[in-house]
Amino acid sequence: MNSPSFSNKAEAFEASDDTPTHIVDTATIGDVIQHRFGRRDVLKGALAVTTVSYLMGGAALPASATTENTSSAFDFNELQAGIDGNHHLAEGYEADILLRWGDGLFEDSEAFDPRSQTAARQHRQFGYNNDYIGIFKIADRPDNLLMCVNHEYTNPEVMFPGLTASPKDNDFSEINAQLVEVEMAAHGVSIVELEQRDGKWRAVPASAFNRRISASNTEMSADGPAAGHRRLQTSADPSGKRIVGTLNNCAGGVTPWGTYLTAEENFHGYFWTDEMVDKDDKQVRRKKGLGDDQADSYARYGLPGNWYNWGAHQSRFNVDKEPNEANRFGWVVEIDPFDPSSTPVKHTALGRFAHEGCECIVNADGRTVVYSGDDARFEYVYRFISANQISADREANMALLSEGTLSVARFNANGTVDWLPLVYGNGPLVPQNGWESQAQVLIDARLAAKALGATPMDRPEDVQPNEQTGKVYVMLTNNNKRKKDQIDNANPRADNLFGHIIEMTTPGGDHSADQFTWQILIKCGDPMVADVGSLWNPATSADGWFGSPDNCTIDNQGRLWVATDQGKNWPKTGKADGLYAVDTEGAARGTAKLFFRVPVGAEMCGPCFTPDFETVFLPVQHPGTDGTKEFEGFERESTFEDPATRWPDFSNDMPPRPSIVATRKKAGGRIGG
Ligand code: FEO
Ligand code: CA
Ligand code: CA
Repeated sequence: MNSPSFSNKAEAFEASDDTPTHIVDTATIGDVIQHRFGRRDVLKGALAVTTVSYLMGGAALPASATTENTSSAFDFNELQAGIDGNHHLAEGYEADILLRWGDGLFEDSEAFDPRSQTAARQHRQFGYNNDYIGIFKIADRPDNLLMCVNHEYTNPEVMFPGLTASPKDNDFSEINAQLVEVEMAAHGVSIVELEQRDGKWRAVPASAFNRRISASNTEMSADGPAAGHRRLQTSADPSGKRIVGTLNNCAGGVTPWGTYLTAEENFHGYFWTDEMVDKDDKQVRRKKGLGDDQADSYARYGLPGNWYNWGAHQSRFNVDKEPNEANRFGWVVEIDPFDPSSTPVKHTALGRFAHEGCECIVNADGRTVVYSGDDARFEYVYRFISANQISADREANMALLSEGTLSVARFNANGTVDWLPLVYGNGPLVPQNGWESQAQVLIDARLAAKALGATPMDRPEDVQPNEQTGKVYVMLTNNNKRKKDQIDNANPRADNLFGHIIEMTTPGGDHSADQFTWQILIKCGDPMVADVGSLWNPATSADGWFGSPDNCTIDNQGRLWVATDQGKNWPKTGKADGLYAVDTEGAARGTAKLFFRVPVGAEMCGPCFTPDFETVFLPVQHPGTDGTKEFEGFERESTFEDPATRWPDFSNDMPPRPSIVATRKKAGGRIGG
């Protein structure tokens, strides 16, 4: 279902009148308004209210924002939006595949064969769904880079050949113990050295830094206030401080002292009960666990989720047998990528929730600040501030995330945001309300945050500080459960299908302040459909608007890049997920331009620039899955073996593979100018 393209603007305008979600060449929203209504009409009277107000949104865009004087800070020619079986990128740029699921990371890695995959092989290969990427310079090899990649989750329906049952519909009858072990080995983190040859980056399998960390092969430690707490103790680990593995590693962060942070997101889905009737069986969730505190906790965290059947084969993931194992996930994990024998640390001081990411910044006073979204509907935005200051001592810095203050955001209607400390004894977090310790506050951070009056948000994803401006961007991906009587200024749309981006401003660049201010930068969705209620700079083209902002990064010029994850909802925009360059300053503020788009069914995860900003690594995960059955000519649910449903643009004997794409300007130079 390729969307139509148009040879000239006039033709595009007419077509877009009737088919508002279609591609419109290079026409901007402002162009379309002028064509339809005439600029004078737009700027006077009722039309300015009924049309321009939802396009421009009044206060959040500069008063001078018009279709003139809105030059983007990005110099590339925008890519045409659409969806098909391949990736595409802006004119003048080129891309090649750096790493794919199954690629060998070591000299002894066996060749990838999806028909005979084992956990042992997978542990020597690049994992499945690649999400966040962090890169590090290597002291004695200045031309090389050390790359860390999260492997968030597995899609058994496209990983394993010959399945007839559908695991994603809760039928795990064909997912045996061996396949579970492969899935566990495909999760976690890959650490791999990169070198450049003939201008292209490639992995160095001989590097001593290379490492695979999975859900099953690496023992980790826990530190901070909840380490060793009785609710982290299990039959295999009475200490409550030795945890095997990490999972659902979504986004992450890179610390200024050269370590990697990986965020455990949807951990609840990996825990299992034999009693679950369906995924919404709240009664089962309530009666699990030890005592009343754990029952409420289980219910709030959606435990057990029964998304995967690991617990049917491994007792630690079965909450009927091991009710505390689930408390050992949902943390931020710090990894020293330069020491392959190092023990990763789960920092409980940063709280337990579905951590989307954990981006850090060093505050002017030397304390480290880490921002995190809790990616679930009506969950919260968090900030951690270390107790101590950064120093020249790397070992000491690696303890900075062990002690500090976690806070949660309350977005006030007047444009301020208060940070509410999740500190035992503070406000309602006292014994008479059932709170017994700081450990409990952190293990049940969602419950504590609710007690403090945090603002329930529309799925907070990445929360990204901008070092150059002192601003912080919050990606809110969507929330189709918000009702009209639940809207507030920071979450202003009921049934928010397309998400929005909030910009927080620190006072004088102080990320430790008790109060920031906030405003909405963008309300996503099609600006040509009034009911969507979107907010864009009118200079945004029909290719440039997007839905479901998820990951983001800031480049060396302080510019914002946003990656989208629409999931199976891409037919609602008619666009594949992609990477968009978003202006945040000047008259172009609120303008987005499409730089790269992924194949159908894939998700665009967080972009990562090389230190010279001449390459951007783009993680493309789960191609051929989300909503692919809606894709004309390739309607199918499951495996890659049926000749009638093979992937159109991939080799016939391979499934579509999650990949890291390396993108650069053909002529050389910085990405985006
Ligand atoms: Fe793993 Fe919220 O994306
Ligand atoms: Ca994300
Ligand atoms: Ca995501």
